[in-house]
Amino acid sequence: MIKTVATTPFNDQKMGTAGLRRKSKIVTQPNYIENFVQSIFNVMGDLSDKTLLLGGDGRFYNDIAIQKILKIAAANGLKKMVVAQNGFISTPAGSVVIRKYKLSGGFTLSASHNPGGPDGDFGLKYSNESGGQVSTSVTSQIEKAALSLTEYKILEAPDVDISHLGSFKLGDMEIEVIDGIKDYVAMMQNIFDFAALKKLAASGFTMRFDAMNAVTGPYAKEIFEKLIGFKEGSVVNFVPKPDFGGLHPDPNLVYAKELVDFMFSAQAADFGAANDGDGDRNMILGKGFFVTPNDSLAIITDNFKLIPYYAKGIYGVAKSAATSTAVERVAKAHGIGYYEVPTGWKYFVNLMDSQRITFCGEESFGTGSSHIREKDGIWAVLFWLSIIAATGKTVEQIAVEHWQKYGRSYYIRFDFEGVDTAVADRLMADLENKLPSLAGRSFGDLTIREAKPFVYHDPVDGSVTKNGLVIYFADGSRITYRLSGTGSSGATIRVYLERLQMKDILQNPLDMVTPLGRIALEIAEIPERTGKHQADVVT
Ligand code: G1P
Ligand code: ZN
Repeated sequence: MIKTVATTPFNDQKMGTAGLRRKSKIVTQPNYIENFVQSIFNVMGDLSDKTLLLGGDGRFYNDIAIQKILKIAAANGLKKMVVAQNGFISTPAGSVVIRKYKLSGGFTLSASHNPGGPDGDFGLKYSNESGGQVSTSVTSQIEKAALSLTEYKILEAPDVDISHLGSFKLGDMEIEVIDGIKDYVAMMQNIFDFAALKKLAASGFTMRFDAMNAVTGPYAKEIFEKLIGFKEGSVVNFVPKPDFGGLHPDPNLVYAKELVDFMFSAQAADFGAANDGDGDRNMILGKGFFVTPNDSLAIITDNFKLIPYYAKGIYGVAKSAATSTAVERVAKAHGIGYYEVPTGWKYFVNLMDSQRITFCGEESFGTGSSHIREKDGIWAVLFWLSIIAATGKTVEQIAVEHWQKYGRSYYIRFDFEGVDTAVADRLMADLENKLPSLAGRSFGDLTIREAKPFVYHDPVDGSVTKNGLVIYFADGSRITYRLSGTGSSGATIRVYLERLQMKDILQNPLDMVTPLGRIALEIAEIPERTGKHQADVVT
């Protein structure tokens, strides 16, 4: 029985950098998910020939939202929903499945690296047939549809059992429950030389992978322990939990503290890595050594020939504007295309689809390639292990030799969190007005060459996006300011600092960027306007 339910719009159903992300308390309100999903279906139009994917990172409300979405989809006449077993699929694995089976798109239920649970966050990412998240023109159509929504359709039916593989019907809609892990693992085996990785593991080389009680646990167990042969116990926090066991599943120096402490202890493994809530972010560590995501992208690009899938040659490479310029120097050396895009993986998709780029990455612990249309945490880990297997070098040696060859972009990001939205908006607007007057100003030995907003002209669809304000210094250093688009309340001001040194490569990063930090605070009047004299998170 299809029921039509009268509803009133929520005025906050606007997708940000990566899908819709809100406090669980908001999403669990009656009709919230129903309204949003109905708005997406209204924009999608005819569903009778469409097959979508549905799964999530297993966080609180994943199971309930899946049942709701299935019933709304059936009521709206969707042909078929492919559902991940028990509702579990990582963001990159979802992209693999959408592409491999040529689906029309899909929903990944996740607030990525944000904490989960009743007091945490919930989210929904919506992808199209490319396996990447829809463009901002589509997200604004959905927002509009949500603002004028008056009703939604839902099938009145008992919950369906998605714990077993197989096909059945819900109303007229076909449901196929698939293994969320298998296709992803096959893709990784197709890209990397698993025989070489097995040899590395058998040689006594040790690793620790921290799944942070999130979705990648079962993937990592299968790949690193079972298939490659790292000893049992190499993968930790591997059971996905609805609240991530209280962890903030963001793989960085602040939130992956347990792993970082271990890797800087006397017992450290040779290699350490972590992924985030939905498995698209990664952090790479060596013994007592941290690789910034900026350097990781540059090093991966520089070493493409070592990986079977890329050995024949790659297209170009892209980074978000806020990411350091480390990869730009590698692109130049290899004579490949180089692009700078706004923050958010969706901006890489056109470049990959049009074969302009193979690799891409963001400073926010996201690295990936055109094998899918999302960033890919386990892929990055396998890439690093493959470089190590092929060169026999330690993580630290690989990074230091890279800096010797290309110079080093010292890089740190400061986040000022929980700022009043109006205060943050005004700060950015005033700063933007001030930018033209900054050129030529000197602070000690640092002179501003140019200051302007970052504006992206998409070479494929011609769309124009403004994202962030950038101050360029004469010596290649940069300060970038942006407001976060993934928060669930208040505003976060992100300040990205990069200091380029061609020769002086073994200094402490914080010491190196501190002069830039002072300038950044002063120019934007952050302490005066926010009351904060220090960043809340430094990564
Ligand atoms: C953050 C990161 C951005 C990333 C996004 C999704 O977005 O900065 O690089 O693509 O999460 O993982 P932000 O909160 O800065 O808008
Ligand atoms: Zn994520």
